Amino acid sequence: MPHINKIDVRLDSAFYSIHLGVGLLKNFEIFLPLNIAKARRFFIADKSTEKYARRIAGAAPVYVTDCGESTKSMTHYNNVLSWLLDHKVDRKSVLFAVGGGVVGDLAGFVAATVLRGIPVVQVPTTLLAMVDSSVGGKTGINMPQGKNLVGAFHQPAAVICDFECLQTLPERELKAGYAEILKYALLGDADFYDWLEDNGSKVLSLDAESVMYAVMRSCEMKAEIVIEDEKETSGKRALLNLGHTFAHAFEAVMGYDGRLLHGEAVSIGLLCALELSVLRGYINPQSAERVSQHLGHLKMKKYIKDIGLHDDANPKNLLEIMRGDKKAELQKINFILLKKIGEAFVDSSVADDDVLRVLSDT
Ligand SMILES: NC(=O)c1ccc[n+]([C@@H]2O[C@H](COP(=O)([O-])OP(=O)(O)OC[C@H]3O[C@@H](n4cnc5c(N)ncnc54)[C@H](O)[C@@H]3O)[C@@H](O)[C@H]2O)c1
Ligand SMILES: [Zn+2]
Repeated sequence: MPHINKIDVRLDSAFYSIHLGVGLLKNFEIFLPLNIAKARRFFIADKSTEKYARRIAGAAPVYVTDCGESTKSMTHYNNVLSWLLDHKVDRKSVLFAVGGGVVGDLAGFVAATVLRGIPVVQVPTTLLAMVDSSVGGKTGINMPQGKNLVGAFHQPAAVICDFECLQTLPERELKAGYAEILKYALLGDADFYDWLEDNGSKVLSLDAESVMYAVMRSCEMKAEIVIEDEKETSGKRALLNLGHTFAHAFEAVMGYDGRLLHGEAVSIGLLCALELSVLRGYINPQSAERVSQHLGHLKMKKYIKDIGLHDDANPKNLLEIMRGDKKAELQKINFILLKKIGEAFVDSSVADDDVLRVLSDT
């Protein structure tokens, strides 16, 4: 496998490349598209990723936020905008988001809106951001009413994934990112799933070739889906929500306080989606068991009770939260279910009782 790989994302509205490899930040100028290479630069990072931003920022200004989900707020959005305007940002300036999905979503939304839009370069430093949030152009912030309720589609000008950044990422965060990788395999590529069963532990121990393959395949799959359905209108992009209807409810019930990471909720949510698929007769129980064993083998979160707050997470409460999810149209919940490993589809006719049963059993 070559040292560096590139995936081109060709959309009606934009074209950009995702660059993947170890040590890319050392030479990151060569990955910038020509039209922005000479532009004025601004960097956003959080306290854990500041050192990566400083490595590439030179004398350019760096805005450093606190770590964590609470940074994706109107207050921080406002602060970053003021900071840019104070620095006389102009329409040719470029914003670099150096961090996980929190920094990427906040910086992306700032870039989408300041002066009606300036380019953003995503430099993801978490596994989750590399395989998910940095690709696809969704940006946004949270509101007291819920997560990601205000935002914009704003495709990056480039995505630069330097796997070296993963060396400092806590294991728990790595596993959270792995859940999204598993999601891609389950929703659309059975061979990739087989590969993950054999190589998942190598990905988590940051074996370079394994990380390259897992991230590259995930980005390719996300890019393919985004190319087909850039703004989530045809339904194809909805498949990326596999496990997420459940996951969002688990996160909401826990109050986004860091006890449950998004990827941990996804890992449990994937198993719920599989159990629901079994219950509805779409997939055989052996497939669900396979995935459950794979998660167990990697010591990933599998059950609601693993979260540690089972009382709040009672099935009725969770179901109500799911119904309120912004992706549920007219009270009907669209579940992404599996016909087999590698083949997902949207089912909007699931009976409440089936959902409650899955939630009681997990
Ligand atoms: N836009 C999208 O399409 C999309 C998709 C998925 C998720 N998201 C969003 O992404 C966010 C989650 O992203 P995340 O999981 O990357 O979380 P995150 O950005 O909060 O990063 C997780 C933690 O790791 C730290 N960190 C980041 N990189 C590090 C590194 N290299 N070394 C050490 N520490 C590091 C961060 O400071 C933070 O504490 C959520 O807000 C979610 O809504 C967006
Ligand atoms: Zn997710």
